[in-house]
Amino acid sequence: MGRWDELQSAAREISGHAYAPYSDYRVGAAALTADGRIVVGCNVENASYGLTLCAECGLISQLIAGGGGRLTAFCCVDGSGRLIMPCGRCRQLLWEHGGAELELLTPLGIRTMAEILPQAFGPHDLMG
Ligand code: THU
Repeated sequence: MGRWDELQSAAREISGHAYAPYSDYRVGAAALTADGRIVVGCNVENASYGLTLCAECGLISQLIAGGGGRLTAFCCVDGSGRLIMPCGRCRQLLWEHGGAELELLTPLGIRTMAEILPQAFGPHDLMG
């Protein structure tokens, strides 16, 4: 299986674990790390709606809890398994751990973070 097939299938599988009783919109996210791990996440909603955690939040938590590292490839899907785009906030989360070169499988094909979050604010802005 190619890396994109593997990631999409991991994202689909984890979307089945989503806790989305309010929107009924399940999301699964999966990414590959530079050292070959696959990290995943699903959305976790809350009765206090604004506290909802996107699937990407869970994925980043798993990345850090599992030893950290850089993300090299990413995709996310809805409950039907269709590719979707990460929301604006989550693009920023992904930028932090993948940077400009992180590749994403999007509904329009493979794109880089630099393409989907142009002129990003990031760690380099805080380094003088
Ligand atoms: N959602 C994600 O998990 N990731 C995104 O990038 C887009 C939105 C979730 C949050 C909420 O539980 C549901 O999708 C509807 O917005």
